[in-house]
Amino acid sequence: MPSHLIGLLLGMEEDWSSTFEELVRRLDLRVDHGGGTHTFATERITIEPFRLRAKPRYDLVIDRLAHWYYVPREWLKKVALMDGVYLMNNPFTFQSMEKHAAYCAMMRLGLKVPETWLLPSKHPPADNRFAYTAARYNLPFDLEEVAERIGYPLYMKPYDGGAWVGVTRIEDAEQLHRGYDESGQRIMHLQAAVDFDVFVRTLSIGAETMTMKFDPSQPMHDRYRLAHGFLDPGVGQEVVTIGRTVNAFFRWEFNSCETLVKDGEVHPIDYANACPDISVISLHYYFPWAIRTLLRWTVFCTVTGRPMQIDQDLTNWFRIGDDPDLSYGQRLAALHRLTDDYFGQDAYEEFCDRHLGHLDEVLVDLIDSPWFAALLERTVRGTFPAHEHERFVPHYRGLLGAWVDDARSRRPARS
Ligand SMILES: Nc1ncnc2c1ncn2[C@@H]1O[C@H](COP(=O)(O)OP(=O)(O)OP(=O)(O)O)[C@@H](O)[C@H]1O
Ligand SMILES: [Mg+2]
Repeated sequence: MPSHLIGLLLGMEEDWSSTFEELVRRLDLRVDHGGGTHTFATERITIEPFRLRAKPRYDLVIDRLAHWYYVPREWLKKVALMDGVYLMNNPFTFQSMEKHAAYCAMMRLGLKVPETWLLPSKHPPADNRFAYTAARYNLPFDLEEVAERIGYPLYMKPYDGGAWVGVTRIEDAEQLHRGYDESGQRIMHLQAAVDFDVFVRTLSIGAETMTMKFDPSQPMHDRYRLAHGFLDPGVGQEVVTIGRTVNAFFRWEFNSCETLVKDGEVHPIDYANACPDISVISLHYYFPWAIRTLLRWTVFCTVTGRPMQIDQDLTNWFRIGDDPDLSYGQRLAALHRLTDDYFGQDAYEEFCDRHLGHLDEVLVDLIDSPWFAALLERTVRGTFPAHEHERFVPHYRGLLGAWVDDARSRRPARS
């Protein structure tokens, strides 16, 4: 009887991880597949010295730590290379391929990334070879000319950014120089601003993508808007295809992406979030979807023995990107087919239908339980200052309650 251990590599998060653990416990899943009955358990991974030849006990690891803590990152590389442990995410491409690499890949695939330039850093790297190298090879350049070629307004932001650190909107030459002077040793992009009609954030977990309306001008608890049908169906499909394409291209299976929609055109701007935000404080109504999809994808991968793919096999993608005879629409359709192949879309859906039919009922009961109410309250109290607790505890209860009501109304009542 194969039993699968799912490892959680965690930092400060308690909300989604506890909910996921509780769901696995309550489901007490037994999946008959390939002549055996599969069972599941979760475990939080601890950090300690490890022998490179040691055999890990985990079948799959959900990593939330390696983007800033390099000891577990090296352990992840070892278990991927030596032991075939399935990882969400692939540490190899997440370490080497940041936002800049995602822009390059998307441009080659023919997507509408806004015009973007990379600037040499304002302050040089601290290396005694720099002065000689720069004297011979670094050309003086006119920053204002670069900005004018892109056109104002524009955004200056780190080539590998995250959490809005160092991101500035630039309206004129004065702001341009100030932003560059303040960038220090960081390597910055200059990118044409898209004055969007709709800001869309997608969250992808394995073969599924949730499309959410996002308002970056709001405080974190209000950025994800509760909105259905806010995109024309064709545009919605395009947004999903772009997110899946970036993920399948880099072998990322847990990622959030940002696209700006202007006059029906979709412009990707942010596509490499190694540790996407899935806290209940941010996602509220959409939080149960994330827990459900993590469960579905991890069970599918472990039971079917989906191999961890650390290599990228880029040729097929570039063949589509480089084909001059494909229209934009044909290109997207071809990319979508490749993503279906990568994620094993049909097999995944069939697997979930066959083995996970009762998941939704257990999840709804969990989100509706006193256990979850207590977790939600603890999370709100741990996040907001004391004088806001009275407002935010019922606020989040209401949003999660709305999800429970919607989920129950989609399912036939229990007799
Ligand atoms: N080209 C652009 N046009 C319009 N707005 C932009 C553009 N680039 C960035 N922004 C705005 O700046 C914000 C931060 O930029 P970006 O997402 O690229 O940086 P980040 O540091 O990766 O942010 P995070 O990781 O928190 O999503 C975006 O959410 C968006 O509101
Ligand atoms: Mg962003």
